Amino acid sequence: MTELRMQLRVRAVCYEAEGINSYELVDPKEAELPPFTAGAHVDVHLPGNVIRQYSLCNDPRERHRYVVAVLRETAGRGGSQTMHRDVRAGDLLAVSAPRNNFPLAETAARHLLIAGGIGVTPLVAMLHRLQSIGADFTLHYCTRAPEKTAFAGALAALIRAGRVIVHHDYGNPANGLDVAKLLARHAPGTHLYCCGPSGLMAAVKSAAADWPAGTLHFEYFAAPAVARDPAADGEFQVRLASSGRLIAIPKDKSILETLREHWLSIESSCEAGTCGTCQTRYLDGEPDHRDYVLTDEDQKKFLMVCVSRAKSAILTLEL
Ligand code: FES
Repeated sequence: MTELRMQLRVRAVCYEAEGINSYELVDPKEAELPPFTAGAHVDVHLPGNVIRQYSLCNDPRERHRYVVAVLRETAGRGGSQTMHRDVRAGDLLAVSAPRNNFPLAETAARHLLIAGGIGVTPLVAMLHRLQSIGADFTLHYCTRAPEKTAFAGALAALIRAGRVIVHHDYGNPANGLDVAKLLARHAPGTHLYCCGPSGLMAAVKSAAADWPAGTLHFEYFAAPAVARDPAADGEFQVRLASSGRLIAIPKDKSILETLREHWLSIESSCEAGTCGTCQTRYLDGEPDHRDYVLTDEDQKKFLMVCVSRAKSAILTLEL
């Protein structure tokens, strides 16, 4: 399936905090954009075949624009630097339809949100939604210092109301939010959402390890560093359900790469198991799931072919 790709006009670029700009994207003819739900992201296609995923941070009720915020990362892979250096108001950008791997559990009794730095972006959209449905929520927003705190102005009323609590650590994590203390006890009906740097995500995951299944929601910007020996990966075969054809997946190539070598067209974006673009249904066999987006329930039906492999000798895909 070919993904919808829109040419959107950059209507405004705004300074949000030190190193963080927001980009307002609209249809050049002012048409309505495909709807999105809180927690969704879009793929932004940059020059040089670079694709980056950015969470939408505006109110999901808005149909006339998407707003993304981008932290300029000097040690990153270059996408954020391109956005900051080259993208100007008036430019056109190729943008995918929104996709949501980080939805709100809207029927939860209470929502606890934890953001680290630029990880606040999907959570800002969630705050819009939670307010519009009258939900009970608190956001803990961890940043290094006031000048690095995006959306502080937009969040001011919620900060005054105690619904958003900002924590500055000034470079010393000991001064920051005590995640272990905050999450030591699970209040019944509470769902937890976290997006931020890998250290914060790991701390939150560990502190909430005893929370009930299905109450934890994480959005990864990048795949966490996992010590894995590629030499330990074995070979297996993929069967295409439509034709019965068997394709061998070598130990040093992903399912996605191999299928493309056999002229099968599969959309991808992050190719790191974090965006959900390459989600594929499997019908038989046992996958070795290595993604960061599918829930336990979803993993019973789907796998991300950019990173996941198979524990069984044959994996049948709905292709
Ligand atoms: Fe992003 Fe596979 S391409 S999860």
